[in-house]
Order: sequence, then C-alpha cells, then structure tokens
Amino acid sequence: MPSPTLLAKKISKSPTIAMNDKAKQLAAEGKSVIGLAGGEPDFDTPPHIVEAAIKALRDGETRYAAPSKGIRPLLEAIAAKTERDNDVRVDPMTDIIVTPGGKLALFLALKAMLDPGDEVLIPAPYWVSYPSITTMVGGAPVTIETSSADNYRLDLDHMKAFVTPKTKAIIINSPCNPTGHMLSSAEIEAVATLALENDLYIISDDIYEKLNFDGRPAVSLASIPEIADRVVVINGMSKAYAMTGWRLGWLAGPTSLISVAGMFNSQTSTSAATFTQHAAVAALTGPQDCVEEMRKSYEERRDFMVSAFNSIPNMSSPNIEGAFYAFPKVNETSKTSDEVANIILDEAVVVGVPGSAFGVSKDAHIRFSFAEDLGKLKEAVERIRRIADKLA
Ligand SMILES: Cc1ncc(COP(=O)(O)O)c(C=O)c1O
Repeated sequence: MPSPTLLAKKISKSPTIAMNDKAKQLAAEGKSVIGLAGGEPDFDTPPHIVEAAIKALRDGETRYAAPSKGIRPLLEAIAAKTERDNDVRVDPMTDIIVTPGGKLALFLALKAMLDPGDEVLIPAPYWVSYPSITTMVGGAPVTIETSSADNYRLDLDHMKAFVTPKTKAIIINSPCNPTGHMLSSAEIEAVATLALENDLYIISDDIYEKLNFDGRPAVSLASIPEIADRVVVINGMSKAYAMTGWRLGWLAGPTSLISVAGMFNSQTSTSAATFTQHAAVAALTGPQDCVEEMRKSYEERRDFMVSAFNSIPNMSSPNIEGAFYAFPKVNETSKTSDEVANIILDEAVVVGVPGSAFGVSKDAHIRFSFAEDLGKLKEAVERIRRIADKLA
C-alpha cells in the first residue's frame, strides 16, 4: 500500500478553518454559538461586482481564461491599482499572475523562489498558512517571535540572528493577521537592510492594505525603490471587496520570478475563473466608496473591541492598527492559549483561535475576528466577561 508524502506529518489543517468548522458543528447541535474564528468579511459582495460577473457569464465568459496568467483587462487594472495605491509601476504583461486566491499566489511565490531546504523568515505572530505553505513547497520556516509588550516591533539585530546561508526570503504582512500591526518606517528600513545585506526576497502580503485605521496608510514594501526588485506582492479581492468565495488573488514582482510562478500556475490551476476575473475588473476600476464604507464599519468595531477587552479584568488588548482581528491576551495566567480558547469555547460558547496557531509560544492570546455584526460582538465580549475569572 503506498503512503502519502512525509511532508504531511509536518502540516496540519488550518487551525482557523478547523475552529470555524467547530463553530458550525456546535450551531448544528443547536448551541447558541458565536463564531469569531474565521477571517471573512460579514458583508455581501457589492452589487455592481456581482452584476459584472453575471454579465460575463451571460456573455459566454465560461471558458479557460487567456492568457492563463490573467485576462488583459484585469492585469491592466491591477497594474493601475498598484500605481495608484502603492506608487509602484509594474508591467501588466510580465510582472503579474492572477490566481484563484491570495493563498495560491503565496504558494506559487514560495514554490518559484525556494529550493529544497531553503529557509524563510516568518515574524510571529504570523498568519497560520505561512509556515505550512513554506513546508509544503519543501522550504524550512524559521519563526522570529516578537512580543505584544514591544508592540510586535521588528528589530534588525534580532532578525539578523536568524539568518543562515540557507535563508532565501522573509514574509511581511502589514497590516498583520492576527495582530493588526502595521510596520513603522523604522521597521520597513530594518527589513530592507536585512534583505539587501543578505540577498533575500521579501514577500509583502498586502491583502489587508485597505483595512487601515486612524488615518494611517499601509505601506507596501514594493514601494521602497531600493528593494523593489526583490519584493513579491501578494494581494487579492477577498478582504477589501468582501469576495472570499470568489477565489481571486494575484502576485506581482520581478519578471524573472513571475515567469516561473506563471509556469507553475499554468501547470496547476490553469487560470483563475474567467467570469470572476471580469468581476475583479469591475471591483478595481469601479467606485471605491463600498470599500471605504466597510473599512469605516471595521474601524467602529475595532474601537469597541479594544475598549471592551481592556475593560475585562485580567485581559488586555493593544490598539489595533488594521485588518479585522482582535488579539487580546489574558494577563496573569498559568494556562496556555489553547486551554484559554477551550475554556472560552466551553463556558462562553464563543469561538476564537488560540495564539499558539500564530506562532506565539509565551502569552495566552486569542484571536477573535471582528468582521461580524456589532451586536454579536457585544454579546461575545459579555459572555467572556462573565467567565473571565476562569481564565486565570
Ligand atoms: C494574511 C493573509 N494573507 C492571505 C490570505 C489569503 O486570502 P485569499 O486566499 O482568500 O485571497 C489571507 C486569508 O485569510 C490572510 O489572512
């Protein structure tokens, strides 16, 4: 009997998806569960985008996309968006690959840059898929832990200590899932220096760039001229345009790497769905006030989550600078984040994701998505407040 790859032993199902499934199961059992484990906007996709997809379907846009790397109007719309938002010029025909989702864009970027055993620096707290995808393509993830006490700051000397001759890339996600942290200009400089001194690729995962708070814009690392030729941007429609189920993302970067990623894309997905690509053109070239309305709503909920968690005895949350996750911690506790998440699940019937899933080894953090109705968020926090003494 043959057996699957040994790599499978090093990877588990995405913990956020697993917790989300748990919430759905509890709801099916009739429990009044509040599921805040997912990473998905609670808004519907704006109607003009839906209409564009319907029109494309009616127009017969139901065949393989050509070229496989993305239909020309979408590649051009992404290039125009990149220039408008990030002040970066990319050649639409050579520097972008459209993929079925940002997750696959990340997979292709890593697959295109790593040889077996090459190491990838991943600052933690990190998005759960970074280490798993690195491992899946034969690379070795190297975690650089940062702490909430230091506002998750990336320090050059600290990062340098993790570089070896095998280090090939660093993954940056700003605003960050799960902390919301946005890189300061000093941190951007530190990452740039590290990459230049050690000849590294930088993966700049900009998927939450539109969900920034307090009027502070998110800066893509691709916009720093000294490192632009080594930055690969990951982005997509899921978060900014409430299009998670449409599966539409992209990677953009140096032509040499993009041509390899494009070859791998053509040999795996063939292309992202054609009518979805037409919808993405409508999203990127159409009115942007829908994005701003959703952003404002997340900001309001952010205000609520930060002050609510800080008002629960023995819990705290720093300010959240972007994305749509709270990442509070239990201040004084002998319990691990997994134990805390399970108590919150069992006693408050609220589903969050333990900090351990995001590479946090010390403090008992839990991630709660606030891409959820404010009434539900209020109820969730009240339930946690009522059982807070059990978390110590
Ligand atoms: C940090 C980060 N990057 C990328 C993605 C990929 O999103 P998608 O595959 O829906 O485009 C996600 C989704 O949760 C994410 O949180």
